[in-house]
Amino acid sequence: MVKEGQSMTVRHFLRLTDVSSEQLAELIRRAIELKTMQREGTLYQPLVNRVLAMIFEKSSTRTRVSFETAMLQLGGGAIFLSSDDTQLGRGELLEDTARVLSRMVECIVIRTFEHAKLERFAEYSQVPVINGLSDTYHPCQLLADMQTYYEHRGPIRGKTVAWVGDGNNMCHSYINASLQFDFQLNIACPKGYEPTSDFLTEASGHVQLFEDPSEAVRDADLVATDTWTSMGQEEETEERSQAFGAYQVNGALMSLAKSDALFMHCLPAHRGKEVTADILDGPHSVVWDQSENRLHSQKALLEFLMAR
Ligand code: CP
Ligand code: NVA
Repeated sequence: MVKEGQSMTVRHFLRLTDVSSEQLAELIRRAIELKTMQREGTLYQPLVNRVLAMIFEKSSTRTRVSFETAMLQLGGGAIFLSSDDTQLGRGELLEDTARVLSRMVECIVIRTFEHAKLERFAEYSQVPVINGLSDTYHPCQLLADMQTYYEHRGPIRGKTVAWVGDGNNMCHSYINASLQFDFQLNIACPKGYEPTSDFLTEASGHVQLFEDPSEAVRDADLVATDTWTSMGQEEETEERSQAFGAYQVNGALMSLAKSDALFMHCLPAHRGKEVTADILDGPHSVVWDQSENRLHSQKALLEFLMAR
């Protein structure tokens, strides 16, 4: 039975697989178009009078600023809600918060810990809910990454991507992307830090797991990595530094990839840890384009989810 306030037909974006491959391709095409329009100074405001609420239970620079800027540029507004400053922090139920917010605003972004919280929130929201990062996924980042690859090298279909490091939320979203965008994903992780096995099984035709990063990176078109210690894992920092020492993306590792391979990192980066400064700030790196594209790809996403 559908309870009061429970939603059945609203389109949410909690995982990359919530939209089809065709819709993803269209989102990227549109993101590039919106980027050009923004650069040319074209005023485009399809979301006048629309409001995005943004609940953040973890820190953020890019996700927060890109969503706020996107809403402003599209003619609407955004409200940042830190969970400490709302009644969520004092125990109000997610389900009740979803019912209340979705009667006031037209879309909601949530950054949180357990992915199940996002699913529960979305179930009770009458407006689209966007995953701004959970412990399991970071789908908005993949929109930007796929846009960035396309802009630099054209379609990623049939190419080889090497993921080096933690089998974390970003890695899971790369696994989703390998299916949606049809590329080969080589994942190099230390033992005990592999992505969830269900993800590997689901994408078995596209994904191969390696323990040796050199094997994963050999002839790759794109090399991507992320922090060794994600938000919420701070107490494991020392242990993780030890485990991930051999998984640093440095000149020696990058030299095994194709000579024109791109390097990506969702940021924030830790120079001298998961990546050396010469790679992050060097010629393979497209990380600043990647971070800028959070803005353009999310504008395309907001338009897709909210425009009437
Ligand atoms: N890449 C990313 O999501 O960055 P923030 O944590 O700064 O939002
Ligand atoms: N894996 C990182 C991504 C940060 C954008 C984290 O969850 O902290």
